[in-house]
Amino acid sequence: MIVCSCSMISAQDIHDAVSALRTKDPFVVLTPGLIYKTLGKRPSCGSCLPLITKLMVGYDEEGPSSAASLPHRSPFDNTPRAG
Ligand code: FES
Repeated sequence: MIVCSCSMISAQDIHDAVSALRTKDPFVVLTPGLIYKTLGKRPSCGSCLPLITKLMVGYDEEGPSSAASLPHRSPFDNTPRAG
């Protein structure tokens, strides 16, 4: 799912950036700007920032181990996890 059409950022990109940032520094303060920087991109119109923030927080709350095992899970998916 494309989250940012200006910079072509997908939900998977955000997940991967959150995972990489948490792995590198468990105490890092996540911000949409840091996600963009990690992906080597810059926002243009900014209309995606609220969604990027929600995805970032959702993936971060999943934690590094569950985030790594469920790379395609949306934080808005309420289906119970298997296992
Ligand atoms: S949609 Fe992300 S900056 Fe425009």
